[in-house]
Amino acid sequence: MSQKLKSVKGTRDLLPPETSVWEAVETNARRVFGSYGYREIRTPVMESTDLFVRGVGEASDIVGKEMYTFDDRKGRSLTLRPENTAAVARAFVQHGMREWPSPVKLFYIGPQFRYERPQRGRYRQFHQIGAELIGDEGPHSDVELLVMLVRFLRSLRFEDLVVRLNTVGDAESRRQYAAALREFLEPHRADLGDDSKRRLETNPLRILDTKNPAERALLESAPELESFLSEECRQHFSRVREGLERHAVEHQIEPRLVRGLDYYTRTVFEISSAALGAQDAILGGGRYDGLVSELGGAPEPGIGFAIGQDRLIDVLPDSFRSAVRPAAPVLVVPIGDETLVEALQLAEELRDGGLDVVTELRARAMKAALGRADRLGARWVVLVGTSELESGMITVKDFADNEQFETPRAELGEWLRSRS
Ligand code: HAM
Repeated sequence: MSQKLKSVKGTRDLLPPETSVWEAVETNARRVFGSYGYREIRTPVMESTDLFVRGVGEASDIVGKEMYTFDDRKGRSLTLRPENTAAVARAFVQHGMREWPSPVKLFYIGPQFRYERPQRGRYRQFHQIGAELIGDEGPHSDVELLVMLVRFLRSLRFEDLVVRLNTVGDAESRRQYAAALREFLEPHRADLGDDSKRRLETNPLRILDTKNPAERALLESAPELESFLSEECRQHFSRVREGLERHAVEHQIEPRLVRGLDYYTRTVFEISSAALGAQDAILGGGRYDGLVSELGGAPEPGIGFAIGQDRLIDVLPDSFRSAVRPAAPVLVVPIGDETLVEALQLAEELRDGGLDVVTELRARAMKAALGRADRLGARWVVLVGTSELESGMITVKDFADNEQFETPRAELGEWLRSRS
């Protein structure tokens, strides 16, 4: 026997009925984002490598060690997208979206790829639900985006999630701060881990979110980013906070939150869940006022977020999960071969009336049929036997109440609809 093939390490199959939960989450995202004027964008899963090197940044972990990069047959370097913001900004420039009514509001749902060590909540192919608002730099955009995000999470019945918020300033304040931080850390170089030593050269700000206890202790007395912020950045941040308070969005300021992608400016945020472990954020996002121009477009500010859909679903409240309906609540069962054709016909009539119906494609004994209905999660079993066909009365078994009814065939659809 030949060897069984398995899915690639760090990837997984999403199977029913779990896929119904994924769909329900996506339906909510479309509805909530749509109600704020966001429309869907679908960008390719592969892009030229250069996009992420320029967009996400050479010094980031993503570009440094996590990308699926390969040469195609003509030797062009391509990369499976590790995130979607750079691609949205690329599409914004490529399709002249500056001419569209501003700001441009786009959302996406789809797979992303990062070569990370797989563990719970961390995959090599994972999925993001994200939104980007491009073309407005004012604090009200930040507020509206975060309020929308919280509305979406509440629609999934999340209650106690807290937004962790920070500002990383504009490019100039960051440059000054990076220099000060480097100066502070340089005398302690020998005490730093390898990652932080490297970051000291490439991107000292990233050292701030180190998990290493010794480094954390050292950072206690490091200069604070806050004292390097320009007046505009300060004002922007306090407006954002005021707005969030007004909309009762619970948040907590976290001065060490810097995020792992290089394009961020000003507002950055994350939401984690205790259930996943403190290090693993369900979502992250922020402002990226320099990204569009970095990719060759005229300067346009932007802000957005991406939710890790795998992680979100991992910690989804039971009250949402249990409300996701089974695939088809009605099972039509032919009793005896001679009723198969009629059973198929009856199921079509029920679907014409808007019901979701599964038909048994072989005649079954009653007992076997009822057992299958239970496994399929059907609520009603519609029995089609010769006697039913002759009398014109159809027997329906209601699994929820464990009762049995008879109803005229012509009224069956209405009968089922009125009870579902
Ligand atoms: P990110 O923080 O790199 O940001 O990813 C966002 C979310 O994707 C994370 O919070 C996490 O839930 C999920 N995620 C990341 N890597 C993995 C993985 N290996 N397995 C499972 N889930 C994962 C971004 O990607 C930015 N593009 C967000 C953004 C949009 N910023 C502005 N606009």
